[in-house]
Amino acid sequence: EKAGYASFMLKEIAEQPKAVADTLLGRVDGSGTLSLDEVRIPAGVLREVDKVVVVACGTAYHAGLIAKYAIEHWTRIPCEVELASEFRYRDPILDQQTLVVAISQSGETMDTLMALRHAREQGARVLAICNTNGSTIPRESDAVLYTHAGPEVAVASTKAFLTQLVACYLVALYLGQVRGTKYGDEIGDVVRDLSGISGAVERVLGTMDPVRELARSLAHKNTVLFLGRHVGHPVALEGALKLKELAYMHAEGFAAGELKHGPIALIEEDLPVVVVVPSPRGRSILHDKIVSNIQEIRARGARTIVIAEEGDEAVVPYADHLVRVPATPTLLQPLVATVPLQVFACELATARGNEVDQPRNLAKSVTVE
Ligand code: M6R
Repeated sequence: EKAGYASFMLKEIAEQPKAVADTLLGRVDGSGTLSLDEVRIPAGVLREVDKVVVVACGTAYHAGLIAKYAIEHWTRIPCEVELASEFRYRDPILDQQTLVVAISQSGETMDTLMALRHAREQGARVLAICNTNGSTIPRESDAVLYTHAGPEVAVASTKAFLTQLVACYLVALYLGQVRGTKYGDEIGDVVRDLSGISGAVERVLGTMDPVRELARSLAHKNTVLFLGRHVGHPVALEGALKLKELAYMHAEGFAAGELKHGPIALIEEDLPVVVVVPSPRGRSILHDKIVSNIQEIRARGARTIVIAEEGDEAVVPYADHLVRVPATPTLLQPLVATVPLQVFACELATARGNEVDQPRNLAKSVTVE
């Protein structure tokens, strides 16, 4: 069943180019057309939406954090993202003009299910993004957009995450298209960019040997920190979650801009810090700021592991280890930048002698609140 791989996790990491391509299949084409007829919420209702609320747990929550950037950019609708386990306890403000997006690989996560039930009771429409046909969350939602990752067996989510991101981008673009926002022209370009993403993920996977070697060399460490800005921040959170659950190490993700508000005090000699660097093109101010952040932590002794776009030369002097990812538009970068972090956590955990498919204390699907 593992098709020659040492673990399901390794197999599922390797399956990501196909998972991404399958999730796009029939929904986008190379000419830039987006078709999402399966989202059975009438266009008239979607045009009236005045707030999007994403609810999810764990890795799916990180997909939601990234979705916020895409939804707000392409649709100009305010978007909140909330941990499903917190959602209903704060008496959230919801009505018929609220679109709730519930993201869940299994479709059985009780916290997410209870959040969407609460949302529907208040009159909100719920769109599920789910990987499991016929599971409870899509059955109880108004509409569903399935991710086509195929069954995910390893407890740590990898390919499901990438396909959740794809689905989130599709929802954002679809909402933008239905509502005819000023970003209409951009939509065709992004759809074309998405069509090339599977190949980009494949290229990343082909360059992972140095990342594995680095991971093995860090197996004795106690802490790894992850920094990012913009969509790189949720990527940093996801990298840290993977390391916690697989390697049982202290790992934390931070927004790089927060460093000087506290976390920089943690930096000490030879502390590994992974930094996810946004593209130098587009939002270049963001890029320049993170380069300063890398300089700041390196000056304090951190061992910098820099994930940066091919051709980004500005990071080179400050990177103790440099991991290249293909150039993508800023919003899509998580699709390529997350992959090295998955490989890193899997290899580091294996080097520590841990069972990567079944980490201690964890279950694949959390069906209790
Ligand atoms: O099945 P779901 O997507 O609803 O699961 C949500 C989380 O339990 C899940 O993503 C968890 O955080 C993973 N083990 C992370 O790798």
